[in-house]
Amino acid sequence: MLSIVEHDLGTPGRDSAQLVTLSIDGQEVTVPAGTSVMRAAALSDVKIPKLCATELLEAFGSCRLCLVQIEGMKGLPASCTTPVAPGMKVTTQNKQLADIRRGVMELYISDHPLDCLTCPANGHCELQDMAGAVGLREVRYGYAGANHLDAPKDESNPYFTFDASKCIVCSRCVRACDEQQGTLALTIQNRGFDSTVSASQNVSFMDSECVSCGACVQACPTATLSENTLIDMGQAEHSITTTCAYCGVGCSFRAEMKGEEVVRMVPNLDGHANHGHSCVKGRFAIGYATHADRIVKPMIRAKISDPWKEVTWEEAIAHAASELKRIQAKYGRDSIGAITSSRCSNEETYLVQKLVRAGFGNNNVDTCARVCHSPTGYGLKNTLGESAGTQNFDSVMKADVILVIGANPTDGHPVFASQMKRRLRQGAKLIVADPRRIDLVRTPHIAAEQHLKLMPGTNVALINSLAHVVVTEGLVKEEFVRERCEVPSFEKWRDFVSQEINSPESMQAVTGVPAADVRAAARLYATCGNGAIYYGLGVTEHSQGSTMVMGIANLAMATGNIGREGVGVNPLRGQNNVQGSCDMGSFPHEFPGYRHVSDDTVRHTFEGAWGVTLRNEPGLRIPNMFEAALDGEFKALYIEGEDIAQSDPNTQHVTAALTSMECIIVQDLFLNESAKFAHVFFPGSSFLEKDGTFTNAERRISRVRKVMKPKSGYADWEITQLLSNAVGYPMNYTHPSEIMDEIARLTPTFTGVSYARIDELESIQWPCNAEHPEGTPTMHIGEFVRGKGKFLVTEYVPTAEKVNARYPLILTTGRILSQYNVGAQTRRTENNRWHSEDLLEIHPHDAEERGIVEGDWVGIESRAGDTVMRARVTERVQPGVVYTTFHFPDSGANVITTENSDWATNCPEYKVTAIQATRVSQPSEWQKRFREFSETQESLLKSADVMFVAK
Ligand code: SF4
Ligand code: SF4
Ligand code: SF4
Ligand code: FES
Repeated sequence: MLSIVEHDLGTPGRDSAQLVTLSIDGQEVTVPAGTSVMRAAALSDVKIPKLCATELLEAFGSCRLCLVQIEGMKGLPASCTTPVAPGMKVTTQNKQLADIRRGVMELYISDHPLDCLTCPANGHCELQDMAGAVGLREVRYGYAGANHLDAPKDESNPYFTFDASKCIVCSRCVRACDEQQGTLALTIQNRGFDSTVSASQNVSFMDSECVSCGACVQACPTATLSENTLIDMGQAEHSITTTCAYCGVGCSFRAEMKGEEVVRMVPNLDGHANHGHSCVKGRFAIGYATHADRIVKPMIRAKISDPWKEVTWEEAIAHAASELKRIQAKYGRDSIGAITSSRCSNEETYLVQKLVRAGFGNNNVDTCARVCHSPTGYGLKNTLGESAGTQNFDSVMKADVILVIGANPTDGHPVFASQMKRRLRQGAKLIVADPRRIDLVRTPHIAAEQHLKLMPGTNVALINSLAHVVVTEGLVKEEFVRERCEVPSFEKWRDFVSQEINSPESMQAVTGVPAADVRAAARLYATCGNGAIYYGLGVTEHSQGSTMVMGIANLAMATGNIGREGVGVNPLRGQNNVQGSCDMGSFPHEFPGYRHVSDDTVRHTFEGAWGVTLRNEPGLRIPNMFEAALDGEFKALYIEGEDIAQSDPNTQHVTAALTSMECIIVQDLFLNESAKFAHVFFPGSSFLEKDGTFTNAERRISRVRKVMKPKSGYADWEITQLLSNAVGYPMNYTHPSEIMDEIARLTPTFTGVSYARIDELESIQWPCNAEHPEGTPTMHIGEFVRGKGKFLVTEYVPTAEKVNARYPLILTTGRILSQYNVGAQTRRTENNRWHSEDLLEIHPHDAEERGIVEGDWVGIESRAGDTVMRARVTERVQPGVVYTTFHFPDSGANVITTENSDWATNCPEYKVTAIQATRVSQPSEWQKRFREFSETQESLLKSADVMFVAK
């Protein structure tokens, strides 16, 4: 159903450079070749009636409502399926056309309930609009004949309803699921009058392959598929464009509102990252923002065994500031610090690092990107010269071969995955390197040429053997290397990778991947045209995470696959603002724009702007903060939007560190796991309650716009500002746009960025400056940011985390479509209907050996700890490897993960933990303690009579 502000041009645009001029109703129109007559008409404000056509989908030509007359052409062609031609003369309105259109509408309406006044689509129904447009006044066939008016509703999906009685079988939903989403969950069953839309093999939506992306709901011209919120609340009255706060795709949405209530989220057709598409999280899972668990009043307590006390904002800020000052006076300037989050906006993150550097007087600031993509920053900076991905998402449409390494786009980055699948269905080749059979390996109409099923922890061995094939089989793009790269570094790398020890045959025993498959994959990537690499946390979260990122950059440079559309090195960022939080200087060693704190010129610039003397030595990283806390040297921590007690590895180590501190300040929506160890709680605001910007995986800066007032009274940036003022470092921003203006003044890659400019361009990919006033979709064109590309030798060093008789299996972790990260948001939505607990995936052989069957409770023990979760016996994992997600605190996936980390950045080695799995009948000791502690903390919260958000 159309959104309240959308004008649908009927068929997708074409970007041909060749222009065609035609005449429509006597008016001259010029459009790109390939454009449909319908779209050409719509562009010149001539409205042709339509039902089965929409701008989101290729034309289908089934409803026959859009017929037109074209001079010299026989019959009455459908304008949606007819492309324009030079000199064409089109008539869109005459008596003959009007009679036919009325006849078509009569047939539709004779089998459609006439309950418009009580229908959720009333006023926004295309069928209703078309009845009006064609001047339908009577239905000669009556309503007494055979019809579908009693067809049952499918209400199985928690977010939308399928009311078959209203279906006009236009198949827009089926095509949306096929073309836009790529799930192919819907079909039209039967023929003629008996045609009906069916999910999978005539099962309910919930029991089908449907992933609840909502594309079919958006495409439906009637109320057949409607959002439940729309059914309950009625049509919205206004809408505000904002950006999804979940993953690094950064989809643009219009929040359709009634007053301060969200009626529905509609993906924005003009969104440059998503082009009108979405996934189940961004479109539907926003209920957490008004969930009863939200805390909207500040609270303090002296000890974590005390009940919380609700206080005013003044008291909370004053108490937090006095504690921070007391601790610094007693234990020294370096005894406090802060952790910011990739869920926060750029402006919020910028303020937290400014508070730490200028207000606390140290560099003890870090971000959760430490535990996900810090190796990306390190690896890409050192090879290509910039800590960011090289392309925009649309670039994938020009890729000929796509290499996905350690990423699971259909679950982690669903909207980009749909775009990638579209390209793969068009014929691009796919190589997947992953220990597990992710959905992309085989999905409707897509099959990977190669699935390199490597053992966890052997990425570097694999990338070296791929490089070995490229170098030894003469597949290097010599000219590119000679002109664009540091030749001595290339020669050193070439000599290294061509050693026999790096050959696929030698590395086969390490990686477990047959040498022939590695050779075939390397040849395909190097020779098949544009080769694009997409990678995720399966690359970075390793003891050699940074090495692997450098290995990927080496391979792309050697094959000339960088510096133009269709190629590149593309880190798929997990959270909404991972890129932005890194850009904003939230690492302890870097100012905004990735400039080291020891760089005197840069530091003096910030000192001048901020009016303070700044430290020239890096501060503590998150793991160093924990160590220092356990050593009694680090005593206070301000955490904004991050839940380290659940997301960081070796939970027991983290909680011991948290327990040892004297003042923990948590700013969040909920009493999360870290807040259970806190002394001050600042109620945070959801993305719906504040202004700001997020930067997605393509370096795209998009606006987040306030659609409702902050429930706690303050947006997050205001809370940081209040705290800064209270600790004695004044900040006086009146709007986040002023923070962005300061970022732009101080950061060379952002000098052209402002809210006004973003509003004008919709979004901007940095660098955006005098050289690139409209931003930079593709980086490293003509020259690398660092000048010449640098090859680095990437020797494979096996992880210290070894399997042995006691811990014979390797556990690796990942995420699932319906849940997000630690689950704080998605667990508080109906998304739990798809995934209500973390499960341990185990191969049938390993399960059988242990007497484990599907659904059994399994005890998982590692060198760090133990936990229990239910088994899912599946061949998605290979023998010797088990897998789980980490969305539920109680499952304690991070109780098992160890403190091993990347040599360069300390990014934890989440992806490789040696474990034993055994059938058990009760929770682990840790789980028992965890549940007891959580119950105590919940009761300490309840006894405070804290005000929650009203339902
Ligand atoms: S919600 Fe998405 S996946 Fe489900 S049927 Fe509709 S388009 Fe297909
Ligand atoms: S459900 Fe909607 S989109 Fe699908 S065929 Fe019926 S009317 Fe068309
Ligand atoms: S793909 Fe990511 S950004 Fe887009 S709607 Fe889903 S969670 Fe939000
Ligand atoms: S809109 Fe053209 S045939 Fe339906």
